[in-house]
Amino acid sequence: MSNRVTAPAATAAAEAPAGRPFRAPAPVPHSQPLGFASFIRTASRNPIEIWGTRAFKEPYIRGAWLGVPNIVVNDPAGIRHCLVENAKNYVMQPLRQRILRPLLRDGLLTAEGELWRRTRKAIAPIFTPRHISGFTEQMEARSVLFAENLAARSEGRTVDASHEMTLLTFDILQETLFSGDIASEPEGFARSTRDFLGSMGRVDPLDLLNAPAFLPRLRRLRGRKSMNFFRSLIAETIAKRREKIARDPDGTPHDLLTLLIKAEGLSNEEIEDNIITFIGAGHETTARSLAWTLYLLSQAPDERALVEKEIDEVLPTLTHPSQWADRLVHTKAAFEEAMRLYPPAPSLNRTALRADRVGDVDIPAGSTLLVMPWLVHRHEMLWDRPDHFIPARFLPENRDKIDRYQYLPFGVGPRVCIGASFAIQEGVIALALLLRHLRFDYDGRKPPEVVQRITVQPDGGLPMRLSRRR
Ligand code: HEM
Repeated sequence: MSNRVTAPAATAAAEAPAGRPFRAPAPVPHSQPLGFASFIRTASRNPIEIWGTRAFKEPYIRGAWLGVPNIVVNDPAGIRHCLVENAKNYVMQPLRQRILRPLLRDGLLTAEGELWRRTRKAIAPIFTPRHISGFTEQMEARSVLFAENLAARSEGRTVDASHEMTLLTFDILQETLFSGDIASEPEGFARSTRDFLGSMGRVDPLDLLNAPAFLPRLRRLRGRKSMNFFRSLIAETIAKRREKIARDPDGTPHDLLTLLIKAEGLSNEEIEDNIITFIGAGHETTARSLAWTLYLLSQAPDERALVEKEIDEVLPTLTHPSQWADRLVHTKAAFEEAMRLYPPAPSLNRTALRADRVGDVDIPAGSTLLVMPWLVHRHEMLWDRPDHFIPARFLPENRDKIDRYQYLPFGVGPRVCIGASFAIQEGVIALALLLRHLRFDYDGRKPPEVVQRITVQPDGGLPMRLSRRR
């Protein structure tokens, strides 16, 4: 087994401000391999707990599950080889497809082969920098409103920051998707989205055992009714917008829905699938990153002071939307460091079509490739003080010390997240406008328990006490 890591070993940690950096909580890796029953239990309850100490120390780990070989690739050069240079040899893993495809159907996240290529080509122009900076005002307006509302209802009280951030990012996504033109009351739409997404949330033990698709998955059966209702709402919303565009082509709102309808080569069903995909992939992920950033800043007062000072100085001088992410460098660095410690999407899994080789490790045809941001981002050979919150790593002057393939919150290669710039812009804007007047202090009796339920999240929420800072 190779022990070489071909990236710059342990990227020097940039200096943290005065004081000891905060160690971000995570499940303690076990030192002995898990037995069969305990593996099933753990993987079904909290998949990130299956990893042992070796997984955070070695560049490659070979294993097998139900006779299928699997290879964990932590080495950045190996990641580049599999996900970029030889990407065509790797397809989405059947387990992930079994969970997501019934919900997202032909949306970009779950499409494969020619359908994926055509859809990506149709959708890519929607996420150009020009369109994304066109959403700044909506993001700004919704964040200001949300911060005011949150302060009015909860100042001096403890809120679940994880839940609050989901409400905020859902509100922003809904506005940038539909500009408020939804075929239902906003509350009803939010409820129906919650029901729908709830059925995505967990891995069913039957999936882990490769049980055939016709066996009923109890957890998923419960979601079918809410899924049908949710789909009918989306279909009606699209139909109404089509009518509006036909009636008044110049007066249609600038939002993702209009852009999708005008994109070349998408059928009505594909538009529906991609709206549902954006909702599924595009708000809980950002919400997790925001909530973790608030938590980490609350545990690192020196870092928080830097961010607050920057917001106070820079916000009044911002004149153009494109300046947000470039000028709020400490805010953006804290957000990026939070996504390193708690990558919302903790695993990028593939299946090898043909045999391949990385470094001196063979990847047999049909084996499972596991590229895990959860492991790579906390890998001892790649990061100095990997478990500590040190946002300065991501300041512009230090950024190029981080190898492209050791920091993967948005994945890498042809299937890299199409909404990455959208999410970073949204994250920086939301943080700046929340922290301009408010302060969040962690109010749990013990550190949050970190669990993977599709996204990496605090089990049972993130209690934070809200106060007004100015
Ligand atoms: C912090 C926020 C986000 C994170 C951490 C994130 C993470 C990811 C990751 C890791 C992938 C690649 C999965 C793989 O290779 O297996 C991905 C793909 C994708 N993301 Fe995101 N995402 C975020 C926000 C968004 C937003 C805001 C949208 C849309 C509005 C979005 C839409 C998508 C889509 C459609 C894909 C599939 C791309 C393809 O397969 O071609 N994501 N995301």
